[in-house]
Amino acid sequence: MRVLIMHGPNLNLLGTREPGIYGTLTLEEINRDIESLVLELGGSASFFQSNSEGALIDAIHAAVGKYDGIIINPAAYTHTSVSIRDAFSATAIPFVEVHLSNIHSREEFRHKSFTAPLAVGQICGFGADSYLLGVRALFNLTKKKTELKKPLA
Ligand code: DQA
Repeated sequence: MRVLIMHGPNLNLLGTREPGIYGTLTLEEINRDIESLVLELGGSASFFQSNSEGALIDAIHAAVGKYDGIIINPAAYTHTSVSIRDAFSATAIPFVEVHLSNIHSREEFRHKSFTAPLAVGQICGFGADSYLLGVRALFNLTKKKTELKKPLA
């Protein structure tokens, strides 16, 4: 299982960015915890952060055939980006959408996600644990799919 972890705009500032909402862990620390879990589950992880919509779209295109799934926190693009949504529908790569904060309990403009309807699922509100729960969900899903494909003994 090869998984790409994607972080959208402003998440490079984690650690100092609105710690009351997003916590005090830096992106590097979060990525370290994700990597240990992925290794423990027997997979491999790559990481990508960008503040630019086009770069995120290019990374989704490039993920085809290279990764089995994506964990993405599209950050503010969640609420605005038809083109990131279209990149997911064009590639059909399985992905889990994650958010540190509970977007549904915040300002109304954060309640809408363009990407969530295409995701395997959305996990939000658990801080950095949202990413770890997302990794577990993606691994379990892939395992189930592989088991379904196995011929009956
Ligand atoms: C976020 C929530 C978004 O609304 C916000 O724009 C972010 C971070 C989260 O992880 O809670 O940048 O995706």
